[in-house]
Amino acid sequence: MSTRRNFLKAVPAVGAALTASCTDPSQAASNSLNSPAHAPPSTLVRPVVISTWNHGKAANTAAWQVLSENGNALDAAEAGVRVTEADPNGRSVGIGGRPDRDGNVTLDACIMNSDGDCGSVAYLQEILHPITVARQVMEKTPHVMLVGKGAQEFAIAQGHEKVNLLTEESKKEWEEWLASERRQKPKINVENHDTIGLLTLDNQGNLAGACTTSGAAYKYAGRVGDSPIIGAGLYLDNDVGGATATGWGEAVIRACGCFLVVELMRQGHSPQEACELAVERVVAKNPDWKDIQVGFIALGKDGRHGSFCIAPGFEYALWSEQVENGLFASGSKLEG
Ligand code: GLY
Repeated sequence: MSTRRNFLKAVPAVGAALTASCTDPSQAASNSLNSPAHAPPSTLVRPVVISTWNHGKAANTAAWQVLSENGNALDAAEAGVRVTEADPNGRSVGIGGRPDRDGNVTLDACIMNSDGDCGSVAYLQEILHPITVARQVMEKTPHVMLVGKGAQEFAIAQGHEKVNLLTEESKKEWEEWLASERRQKPKINVENHDTIGLLTLDNQGNLAGACTTSGAAYKYAGRVGDSPIIGAGLYLDNDVGGATATGWGEAVIRACGCFLVVELMRQGHSPQEACELAVERVVAKNPDWKDIQVGFIALGKDGRHGSFCIAPGFEYALWSEQVENGLFASGSKLEG
C-alpha cells in the first residue's frame, strides 16, 4: 500500500479543505484567472480517489488498492464503482437499484480515460456491471454509447451473464411506492445516496472517471439521466481535471454540468470554486431548484478537490495520502 515514493509534497489546502464546505483560503487564493489549474502547481498530491456519497467509501477502498499498487487511474475507477454495482443493498446503483415505474431495473454508466476516450451504456437491463460494458464499448467498438437491447446484446457477446437486478427488498419498496403519495415527486436525498461517480488520479499523474447508476427511482420507462452522458454526469480533461455529478439528472444535463465544471477549472477556478459556480448555473436554469438535489465533485490535475451541491445532505468520500478513506459533508447552496 506504500505510495510515498511517488508522493511529492502534501498540500496544506487539502487538510484544510476537509471542513463541511470544503472551502479553504489557499484554494481561494489560487482562483484568479492568472493561475489556471493546469499551470505547473507548486505542490502535488497523488494518488487520489474521490467519489460520491457514503457508498463511495467501499468503492474508494477498491480503487485505492489499485492506485497504491501503482495501477492506472482507469483500472482503479472501474474497480471502485464495480463494488457499488455489486452491492444488493444499495438502492440507486446496480443490483438492488430502484426500478422504473413498471418494475424494470435499467442501468446507466459511463467511463472516461486520460486520453479523452470514453464509453457509455444506457437503459441496460439484467447486466451486473454496466461500467465494465461501458469500458468495453470504449475499447472494443468505434462508438461511445450503446443503449437498451443493443447494449445488452453487446454485453452478452462480451461474456456478461444475464442476472435479475430486482431484489426482493427493492421490489417490495416499489410495490409500496405504487400505492403511495410519493408517486409524482421524487424526494431529495432519498436514502442518502444516489449515483456513484468516482474520480481517480494515479501516480503517473493521469486522471480517469467512472459514473454508474440505476437512475431516478420509479422513472418513466425509457428515461435516461445524466450519468451515461459524457459532459453531463462525467467529464475530464487530463490537462485540467475531472468532475462527476449526482442528483436530479435532468438538471445536470441541462447545464452540461461536468463539462462546465472542467471548463471552469480550465479558466483558472479551483475545483471547489468550479463546483460552486456550476451549482449556481444549475440554480439559475432550474426554477424548481429548491425541490431538487444536484451535487458535483471535482478533482484537479494537481490533486486538489472540490465539492458542492444544492441541498444539505450530500457527502463525498476521499482517499489520499492525507486522508485514509474519509467521508465529508459537502457544502451546499441551501445551507448558505
Ligand atoms: N443522477 C442520476 C440520474 O438522474 O439518473
